Amino acid sequence: MQKKHLSWLKLKQNEHNKKVLEHFINPRNVGTIENPDGYGKVGNPICGDLMEMFISVKDNIITDIKFRTFGCGSAIATSSMVTELTKGMHVDEAMKITRDDVADELEGLPPRKMHCSNLVASALHEAIKDYKRKKEE
Ligand code: FES
Repeated sequence: MQKKHLSWLKLKQNEHNKKVLEHFINPRNVGTIENPDGYGKVGNPICGDLMEMFISVKDNIITDIKFRTFGCGSAIATSSMVTELTKGMHVDEAMKITRDDVADELEGLPPRKMHCSNLVASALHEAIKDYKRKKEE
């Protein structure tokens, strides 16, 4: 674990609940998918961080999802949560996921970290839009 993230963990232990920390320490579905059916990449204008989302889709169901981020601990935790939430979900349902849904699943994020969950939701939406675009070609 990088030094930056370790210090983040120590500083935020009081502020974040156990579920957020668990997803941060042990993030699920980190990585990439070769030749994904959908790919989304977004940058956060507030902090400058980046998020990439890769999806495999069969019959409009997300069969696999991975993420890669140069974001903070909240971004890692929320990405991990989103990948767990959306695996097996119809793409149209996944498009409805908002940053508030993600924060709710994680039992709340501090208000100043809400933009991190927004980054995750936007990357997911971009990946689904990319999938739909490719399907129409
Ligand atoms: S501070 Fe940049 S994604 Fe959280």
